[in-house]
Amino acid sequence: MILLVNKDHIFNEEMISNYSMVEYDNVFEKTLYIEEETYRHYEMLKAHLKVDGIIIDLDDAYRSLEAQENVFLKYMKEYGLEKAETVVAMPGYSEHHTGQALDLILYIDGKWITDNDDLLKQEDIFKKIHSCLKYFGFILRYPKNKESVTGYGYEPWHIRYIGEEDAMKIGDKVLEEYLSGEE
Ligand code: DAL
Ligand code: ZN
Repeated sequence: MILLVNKDHIFNEEMISNYSMVEYDNVFEKTLYIEEETYRHYEMLKAHLKVDGIIIDLDDAYRSLEAQENVFLKYMKEYGLEKAETVVAMPGYSEHHTGQALDLILYIDGKWITDNDDLLKQEDIFKKIHSCLKYFGFILRYPKNKESVTGYGYEPWHIRYIGEEDAMKIGDKVLEEYLSGEE
């Protein structure tokens, strides 16, 4: 079953009671937790991209309610409440709580690109990454021009694991559209 967590669907711990989380240390030695199946597929995606000369790592994966609150507060201080709400989910409403949402960072010309504005400039690389996500069970969760449906602006770095079968079927739909079509 695909979990839907968004502005209208609050997360609860029950949703992930059968999931296992694995520990993963990113390139900056930050320890992240990732849902196990998502992690296995992330490693396959990463290896596939490496063959093409694209080096990725993760900035974030599972977030507790407290971690999400900290992210939200940071953005609110920087951009104000209205803008923050289009960039970061309120605690309890983020799919990062599932452990199946990953935020990518890129290694380009000897440097790690981690800043959102800098990542947004890497259009060509993200185009290549996005084109192969589905083969590894991932989707681009917040694509361009879907803010009215998802509630968030374009986030080329934020990918979500839903399994190969659904990722192959979803096409141009976002998760909200795909799941409502299925009901
Ligand atoms: N940036 C996404 C929307 C989140 O905070 O879950
Ligand atoms: Zn994210």
